Amino acid sequence: MPRLALDCHKQVDEIHAWKERIGAAALVVCIVWVAANFAFSEQRDFHASRGPVAGVHQMWETQCNACHTPFAPIRSHSWQALFLGDVQASSQKCQTCHEGTTHHAGQHPELSCASCHREHRGRDASLVRLTDRDCTQCHNDLAGHHAKKPAFELTVSRFSAQGHPEFRSIKNDPGKLKFNHELHLRAGMAPGTGGGALMTLGKIPEPLRKRYRDQQSTKHDDAPVQLQCASCHQLDAGDLGLPGTRSAGAYMLPIAYENHCQACHPLTIERKGPDGLLTIPHRLEPNLIHDLMFNHFTAQAVRGQPGLLDRKVDRVLPGKLTNALDTTLREVIDKNVEHAEKDLYLSNRLCAECHYFDGKPVPQAVQAGKRPELQTAPTKVPPVWLQHAKFNHTAHRAMECAACHEAASRSKTHTDVLIPGRDNCVQCHGPTTSAGTPGARFACTQCHQYHNGDHAAQGIGAARRNPRAGHAIDAWIQAK
Ligand code: HEC
Ligand code: HEC
Ligand code: HEC
Ligand code: HEC
Ligand code: HEC
Ligand code: HEC
Ligand code: HEC
Ligand code: HEC
Ligand code: HEC
Ligand code: HEC
Repeated sequence: MPRLALDCHKQVDEIHAWKERIGAAALVVCIVWVAANFAFSEQRDFHASRGPVAGVHQMWETQCNACHTPFAPIRSHSWQALFLGDVQASSQKCQTCHEGTTHHAGQHPELSCASCHREHRGRDASLVRLTDRDCTQCHNDLAGHHAKKPAFELTVSRFSAQGHPEFRSIKNDPGKLKFNHELHLRAGMAPGTGGGALMTLGKIPEPLRKRYRDQQSTKHDDAPVQLQCASCHQLDAGDLGLPGTRSAGAYMLPIAYENHCQACHPLTIERKGPDGLLTIPHRLEPNLIHDLMFNHFTAQAVRGQPGLLDRKVDRVLPGKLTNALDTTLREVIDKNVEHAEKDLYLSNRLCAECHYFDGKPVPQAVQAGKRPELQTAPTKVPPVWLQHAKFNHTAHRAMECAACHEAASRSKTHTDVLIPGRDNCVQCHGPTTSAGTPGARFACTQCHQYHNGDHAAQGIGAARRNPRAGHAIDAWIQAK
């Protein structure tokens, strides 16, 4: 005996009848709904939208054509792109309001803007936090996506010790400013076996002393100075016109002699005489310092030798003064200058303590009666190290400096690189931390920019990111 009657398909039971009725009703509702939208709605397109656009674009939400070209796909990877028109048409629409400059010359394929910047995901959805796929579609195999041979790592699959290369910008330290972290972080810069005195608060000139005193717990004048990282490294307050896209608090301010060194390394030269203490202004080049010292020692000689005044030197122009001096006095002055220059450029104090010099080797360059043929070597301390990624100190402010720069307190020479490498970051940035707990975000866009790749120094607001023409108020509101 069969479980179902053989003619069951011919019998229309109640369930079947209702299915058909509901189906028909749904169809009618749909047709009426669409028709009503077209007939009555003021925002007819809106009913075909996939959802609200991001807050930055809400002003144009109902003007679909601000971003869409009718009957053209908007994403490079959409199946419609195979059949329907040019995806770049919509990209040009985006570019009437902001130009999204290419990442690198010679890259391919040329992706439409919408293939990375996804819309209709709600007011608060981010347009710029992308999935790794948006980047690895090329970076998994860069050789296939570049017109020539790429200069950068060919396979980057994700941020991990296996999937991402070491940081190339920290291979060596291009800086030419002498410095010894280990020494300066010792209390009182305690000299080693060579002997020497402790640097105490009392030795710092009065106006500058308070700043150092405030930083430490022992405050009396005989207390050794104890420097902190923050004595020299402060977070920047925003865009200083330095290279790299900087936001407030992302990087450390550059070292400045006046703020960070002067208190303990004054540029003063002592010579015999009533006003023998000569203070050299910082950042002058050696030839200008030569003239300055020459004038100083001449003035000193003039004041020390009343006889000179009989020769009416006071009426001679400053540059001509030399002619009026007899040779012996001239020799004394030149010798004075030469001695001072040797102190500045040859001894291990004053300029040469911190600087290198370009030009002739210093011993030959310094000669009595001649301007030295020397230039201070540019210090070139990098204001931004990682040229191809961004970093932000403020996001990591809860960590101690040593967690990333642990080598600093041991470093005795300025040539040491103190910037952490990839292995430091992967302890936290990854699916799990080194402790096995959930890790910090590690999407490519967390650390990298896309636009301006060839011109990384340009950030938001760079001239080349501007739309081609400006709109008037009405034209802009209507996205025309
Ligand atoms: C600010 C620009 C912008 C505006 C305004 C806008 N869209 Fe979009 N739309 C996009 C982007 C970008 C995508 C691709 C989103 C994605 O792939 O996740 C998209 C995708 C779509 C899609 C899916 C089609 C596809 O190719 O994937 C539809 C349908 C759509 N939009 C309809 C509308 C309608 C209707 C309106 C007007 C009411 C509108 N959009 C207004 C930017 C916009
Ligand atoms: C009618 C003008 C207009 C059009 C068209 C337009 N945008 Fe925008 N867009 C803006 C304005 C205004 C902002 C906010 C100001 C800013 O940050 O530059 C913005 C911001 C953005 C941002 C930054 C969002 C953020 O969170 O920082 C992205 C990305 C963006 N638009 C992508 C697109 C894409 C992709 C298209 C084309 C599908 C497009 N825009 C079309 C006007 C427009
Ligand atoms: C491969 C993915 C990708 C494509 C394609 C792309 N962008 Fe972007 N875009 C990004 C990323 C990532 C950011 C955020 C980081 C940055 O500023 O570079 C961004 C940021 C932006 C911003 C935010 C403002 C700013 O200066 O940070 C605008 C506007 C923008 N893109 C517009 C465009 C336009 C217009 C196009 C098409 C011509 C486009 N983008 C194509 C990935 C992409
Ligand atoms: C269409 C292919 C393509 C896409 C998509 C792409 N890149 Fe690139 N990327 C390149 C090419 C090509 C280079 C240059 C290679 C060279 O010159 O060696 C490059 C170089 C880079 C570099 C190293 C040089 C620099 O600009 O600092 C970084 C970092 C980078 N891309 C990050 C990203 C990120 C992040 C994304 C996703 C938002 C992304 N790329 C998406 C093709 C692409
Ligand atoms: C007396 C001033 C001073 C103090 C205190 C000081 N620094 Fe520096 N720091 C410098 C100077 C000058 C440079 C640049 C010359 C160089 O490369 O060594 C520098 C460079 C750096 C750099 C750049 C990277 C590099 O390889 O050159 C890092 C990182 C750094 N310091 C970290 C620290 C940390 C962490 C501390 C605290 C433990 C600290 N510094 C304390 C003066 C100081
Ligand atoms: C709190 C006082 C103090 C500050 C601030 C300070 N120094 Fe020094 N520095 C010293 C003392 C003390 C010595 C050891 C005696 C000497 O050589 O002058 C020294 C030594 C040096 C040396 C020689 C290092 C060596 O290995 O022999 C250099 C180079 C130097 N300082 C550079 C700097 C620079 C650059 C700055 C500013 C970024 C700076 N110092 C800030 C106190 C200071
Ligand atoms: C205690 C260390 C120290 C001493 C001593 C010192 N400087 Fe400097 N000098 C610096 C630092 C730090 C900078 C870089 C930041 C700045 O401009 O303040 C610098 C920058 C300079 C620059 C600009 C270089 C550039 O790349 O822009 C010149 C020129 C210069 N110094 C000349 C001198 C001369 C000449 C002397 C001697 C009279 C001297 N300095 C003594 C620390 C020192
Ligand atoms: C999470 C790791 C991390 C911590 C914590 C950290 N730094 Fe850095 N620091 C970096 C990285 C990465 C760079 C390279 C950034 C760049 O220039 O591209 C850097 C760069 C620097 C530089 C060179 C100038 C600059 O901004 O590029 C100095 C100086 C510096 N750090 C000092 C400090 C001091 C002082 C502290 C503690 C208050 C500290 N850092 C905490 C990772 C860290
Ligand atoms: C102790 C864990 C830890 C280490 C180590 C660490 N980070 Fe982070 N980082 C975080 C956390 C937590 C955040 C904030 C959450 C977020 O933005 O995802 C963050 C944020 C960031 C951001 C986003 C900053 C912003 O808001 O724009 C960047 C970029 C970054 N880290 C880079 C690095 C780099 C590069 C290194 C290695 C030199 C590093 N981090 C090391 C935990 C860490
Ligand atoms: C936690 C931060 C972080 C994340 C996440 C991250 N990177 Fe990087 N990336 C860096 C740093 C830092 C460098 C070194 C930049 C430099 O040396 O100037 C770098 C370098 C690169 C380079 C240049 C390689 C070379 O040859 O020097 C490429 C390409 C790159 N990253 C792509 C990516 C891609 C694609 C992703 C996502 C899969 C990604 N990165 C994720 C921090 C990060």
